[in-house]
Amino acid sequence: MCGIVGYLGAGNAVPVLINGLKRLEYRGYDSAGLALVTGEALQVTKNKGKVADLEAMLPPGLSASTGIAHTRWATHGEPNTVNAHPHLSPSGRLAIVHNGIIENYNVLKEYLLQKGHVFRSETDTEVLIHFIEDIYRSSASSLPEAVQMALRRVVGAYAIAVISADEPGTMVVARKGSPLVIGVAANGDFIVGSDAAPLVEYTKTVYYMDENEIAYLQRGKPMEVRTLDDRPVSPKLTELDLSIEALEKEGYPHFMLKEIYEQPRSVHDSMRGRLLPGKGMVKLGGIQAYENHLLESRRIIMVGCGTSWHAGLVGEYLFEELARIPVEVEYGSEFRYRNPIIGPGDVVIGISQSGETADTLAGLRLAKEKGALLLGICNVVGSSIARETHAGIYTHAGPEIGVASTKAFTAQVTVLTLMALRLGMLKGTVSEQRARALMRELDQVPELIEKVLQSDLLIQQIARQYQQAKNFLYLGRGINFPVALEGALKLKEISYIHAEGYPAAEMKHGPIALIDENMPVVVIATRKGNYDKIVSNIMEIKARNGKIISIVSEGDTQVKALSDHTIEIPQTDEMLTPLLATVPLQLLAYHIAVGLGRDVDKPRNLAKSVTVE
Ligand code: AGP
Ligand code: GLU
Repeated sequence: MCGIVGYLGAGNAVPVLINGLKRLEYRGYDSAGLALVTGEALQVTKNKGKVADLEAMLPPGLSASTGIAHTRWATHGEPNTVNAHPHLSPSGRLAIVHNGIIENYNVLKEYLLQKGHVFRSETDTEVLIHFIEDIYRSSASSLPEAVQMALRRVVGAYAIAVISADEPGTMVVARKGSPLVIGVAANGDFIVGSDAAPLVEYTKTVYYMDENEIAYLQRGKPMEVRTLDDRPVSPKLTELDLSIEALEKEGYPHFMLKEIYEQPRSVHDSMRGRLLPGKGMVKLGGIQAYENHLLESRRIIMVGCGTSWHAGLVGEYLFEELARIPVEVEYGSEFRYRNPIIGPGDVVIGISQSGETADTLAGLRLAKEKGALLLGICNVVGSSIARETHAGIYTHAGPEIGVASTKAFTAQVTVLTLMALRLGMLKGTVSEQRARALMRELDQVPELIEKVLQSDLLIQQIARQYQQAKNFLYLGRGINFPVALEGALKLKEISYIHAEGYPAAEMKHGPIALIDENMPVVVIATRKGNYDKIVSNIMEIKARNGKIISIVSEGDTQVKALSDHTIEIPQTDEMLTPLLATVPLQLLAYHIAVGLGRDVDKPRNLAKSVTVE
């Protein structure tokens, strides 16, 4: 969490920093702040609340050629103005912004308190800048050396940017565990960001910092990069493939709605060049070299959090059905602390939109240590998980800004479908005929999603009727059970209404006690998925006066007759229904949240990428 931006160049830092923060606000929005080198001093402006509030505080005409800025998702200390970044050193001559957690901040703080330091905030970050200055003033070291020495003593995760009033044309940045990208503009300006979004307007030439690296940026000079243990690194610059349009709302009231509507395109992009129905082939260049390893593996473990974990669950059904490979799906946070039994024969697939989720990343690192093959399914190009896995497949959904994941989920499921199909074909566990039929249907999915989106108005009307409900149940069976979980998570996170997802048949083992005339139950009841069984489950709800909102296959009459509301989705192979059935659930959550006046793109207490444990 937290977004960092830095600017060092010939122009004015202020608009670059403010625009950059707006693009990073999805990472956290508890407070925002910036520090500028103006004349001989540092000028800090910060405030609890969003970037727009910070912008409103800035005097007109404010200008500086060096600056750093931050949008926060609090970990240490409440979200208030004092704890907002940037933080200053005791002399007020150094300023820092930080994304991550300094785990041993208490020990460092104790040491500094004994030396007489006084702290204004409760953050771990302020301790770090005090510690850096302590080293800077007491040794004959330069600023980058002092930062380097301090970081060697730090336990935890960070991406930091430090500026100094004494060295106006410089900036020191470093990363370990949290991402940092340095953009280099044609005129030599440097723009630093937690991801590439703040840089894309100014340059496409970037350096993705590696773990344990520290970079010294000086105006008019090439960047100098060293490792924490002082080995020189020659930074490999890459060209960004990201457009500004992809980051804008393009007329939609919220990023979430735009992203829901983008799914025909994003699913198509996830399959482009990979699904070749004409040739009867699926080609996955990113993992080609590891296909045999996958086919020979004893089992596959999928690791993820939140929505990405749900995608893993859909993947389990797909891999087991099509490729007959046993799959286990794990929460990153549980997997990493369980001393899991994994070895060289295992394949671990990390699923993550951001590619930065700390728990998923830690789980993968653990599996790597134990000798497993690591594959990544990530959306953000160049992200930590993408880089630390042996190989992987990008989902190509494009930037996802809304905190609630939508198009990233369908893109993950698309990639998992392609993988399962490819492995099934290689292994011979899917017949040639079924494989061809699946390929043809998968190729149609973008158009079918387009059709699902036509139910938007109907879904909006349903949302209006139920937005005052206190609880929701979501039921599905088989491959649509994880879709029920995902539908419930969407509703919870953006509307703050309590919702639970269940396998439909589990209802009678407990949740059925909750059903009365006030309980809306969303049921995914597509034609082929245990249809008769789910009809019985719906009868059980109806007998207890529950309100039934069903997602059915086009032309259904039986479930429709039992339901209070029905949303139709086109018929397709059961294995592909998650790609369609998810969409109405996203829209339902969206419209309920809008109806309740919630901040849909930035729901309370959440952040887009969770880079802390
Ligand atoms: C999704 O709507 C959530 N905001 C959240 O559960 C998310 O899926 C989770 O934090 C994992 O993120 P990742 O895909 O970037 O790893
Ligand atoms: N630990 C810092 C703070 O609480 C940074 C938080 C983060 O990156 O999420 O301010």
